[in-house]
Amino acid sequence: MIIAPIAHSCSSDFASEVAAGLTMNPQKELPSKYLYDQLGSRLFDAICELPEYGLTRADERLLRKHAGEIAAQVPQDVLVCELGSGSGGKTRWILEALTRHRKISYFPIEISPMALTLCQRELSDIESLAIVGLEREYLDGLRHVAERRHADQAMLVLFLGSTIGNFSDPADVAFLRQVRGMLRPGDFLLLGADLQKPLANLIPAYDDALGVTAAFNLNLLSRVNRELGANFDLNAFRHEARFNAETSSIEMHLRSVRPQSVTVASAGLAVEFSEGETIWTENSHKYSLIELKQKALVAGFQVHVQWIDTEWQFAENLLVAAGEPVG
Ligand code: AVJ
Repeated sequence: MIIAPIAHSCSSDFASEVAAGLTMNPQKELPSKYLYDQLGSRLFDAICELPEYGLTRADERLLRKHAGEIAAQVPQDVLVCELGSGSGGKTRWILEALTRHRKISYFPIEISPMALTLCQRELSDIESLAIVGLEREYLDGLRHVAERRHADQAMLVLFLGSTIGNFSDPADVAFLRQVRGMLRPGDFLLLGADLQKPLANLIPAYDDALGVTAAFNLNLLSRVNRELGANFDLNAFRHEARFNAETSSIEMHLRSVRPQSVTVASAGLAVEFSEGETIWTENSHKYSLIELKQKALVAGFQVHVQWIDTEWQFAENLLVAAGEPVG
């Protein structure tokens, strides 16, 4: 069963965030959440199929293998919320395991309408599952669901695919703490996190031979052109993936190949680029196991179970909301 998505759009946010990011000095930035327009969501799905990008396959392997165990850990009366469902493929295993013994309401929260539509379609065949899509920002959507649940209903929040890594430290902990703030003691958060691994595997995962990730990254500029009336010349920027050892993160950048100026009409903005200057478009943090435990604790969770994929170092962390939120 599919219930019509609850929409909530804020188009002027895009203009103001682009303006703020492109006027940052010395490092210009664009928020990575805007990578996922229609084409961007499809390019991301293509990235997940690339031989170099082992992350999604590792996430899926763990979820498939341990779905039964996960379902057995959570209370009978549980409501499932997913932050950034994407097109929904990897969530199937958990939802199937959960609906084996009960009816489940599933709330995918997704700012990309394209991904949300694909997700609802992909999972619509699961019996005993009610899907209510929310086209909203994560915390906004989570608040909406948390405020409407019954007193005796537990919540399982899914935050998969290492999207947490897009919040650079310490914003990741701050985000987890905000999630914790909307939960009750005993609620669960299933957190997928990509782990540290050799650069020889990491760099190609974000700079693949087919150039799909380059297209995914550059598409952000075409979105700014289309939606905000900008005039970025896509041929004058190059995709770059680099590892920042200090922050243990892969960073995606777009490098200006020549001096140029760009205008963004809807943001009332003219921006100058020098040759070689970059726009930082994404941060993808690579965690250590100890770091995950510490961050969970600081945010008011305890690590209940941790599963690790050894083929592509990746961790699935079943966290439980502790008695009192910390801080
Ligand atoms: C969806 C945020 C987990 O950081 O690996 C893939 C996005 N960026 N290739 C990641 C992404 C470039 C991805 N996450």
